[in-house]
Amino acid sequence: SESQPFFGLRQSGIVTPQQAAMMLVSFDVLAADKNDLVRLFKLLTDRIAFLTTGGKAPLVTNPQLPPMDSGILGDDIYPDNLTITVSVGASLFDERFGLQAHKPLKLQRMTRFPNDALDASLCHGDLLLQICANTNDTAIHALRDIIKHSPDLLSVRWRREGFISDHAARSKGKETPINLLGFKDGTANPDTADASLMDNILWVSKEQGEPAWALNGSYQAARIIQFHVEFWDRTPLGEQQTIFGRVKHSGAPLGMENEHDVPDYVSDPEGKVIPLDAHIRLANPRTAETQSNLMLRRGYSYSLGVSKSGQLEMGLLFVCYQHDLEKGFLTVQKRLDGEALEEYIKPIGGGYFFVLPGVVDAQHYLAQGLL
Ligand code: HEM
Repeated sequence: SESQPFFGLRQSGIVTPQQAAMMLVSFDVLAADKNDLVRLFKLLTDRIAFLTTGGKAPLVTNPQLPPMDSGILGDDIYPDNLTITVSVGASLFDERFGLQAHKPLKLQRMTRFPNDALDASLCHGDLLLQICANTNDTAIHALRDIIKHSPDLLSVRWRREGFISDHAARSKGKETPINLLGFKDGTANPDTADASLMDNILWVSKEQGEPAWALNGSYQAARIIQFHVEFWDRTPLGEQQTIFGRVKHSGAPLGMENEHDVPDYVSDPEGKVIPLDAHIRLANPRTAETQSNLMLRRGYSYSLGVSKSGQLEMGLLFVCYQHDLEKGFLTVQKRLDGEALEEYIKPIGGGYFFVLPGVVDAQHYLAQGLL
């Protein structure tokens, strides 16, 4: 069974090719003090190291005791390409644990953008787990394992499951997943195989003046974005395409042939080919100044039930990573404010988090440098 490394300078689950299943789980930390917090991060380290490696499910045959493992994967726990990426919210750095002085400089509580309709029960959190795997069962098993081991340390705040097509997941990043508006989503992402590009865009580095412990971490923006799919499905193809600035079937920029052709905005200053307010043009105008606003997106679709008013509850779990939250997500989202796409979408939740640096080996634990 495929596995992803847990130990390393940086956490897995970011440059890792997107697995088919993902879950975002936000927690309130119940730890009473800093010693308790150390216990929490050691425990998370142990559980994630085990779950991502796999092995025999521990057996308890005494009927008086709860089974050690939920049992939902059977006796053998396969790694199944599992990654569990741990990040922390600004609220972890409040007075409870005395960590105020160690907060990453750009970490902040998410505030509302003009088109948002944020549901307080779907926002923020002290700690976020992004759990990805080949299958949903593996993600659910991992979550149940972590919750079972941390009753006095964590309480779930909100949770969402997402998916991309098996076809896209099996291609290991070669095929771009298609979102629930029917457009390829992730095409223009920076190349995750280019380590120096990732150093520039993703990972916190020495020059940024961040606390030393934060080196090799990354800022994460998570947004739960509801789609009005019934309305979208009645929108003419031409309009759908000018909203994004891309051809629906091929994913090519308007006026071009192939998905990975690069739009040329210099020779289209008035937006005759790709409108000035098209999503891709606002998100990345491709000028020298906007190079510092690049990010890595790693979104997943979600599909729940039906709203009280009878509408399908479907959308996007938008997740992006960057070494500077303000230059990345916040700047890009401000440029997108008022975009034509807004009529069809409604951001309802999420938050900003800081992905902890990786755990280099079994002698270390998550957040050790911070604590
Ligand atoms: C590009 C969809 C929200 C940033 C794209 C593309 C699609 C898309 C279809 C073109 C293909 C690609 O390059 O991936 C959506 C949908 C959204 C959404 C359906 C929400 C409902 C956002 C948000 C941000 C964002 C919230 C950041 C604040 C970008 C960026 C690009 C992009 C940076 C690449 C532009 C380029 O480099 O040419 N998006 N997106 N998107 N989107 Fe979004």
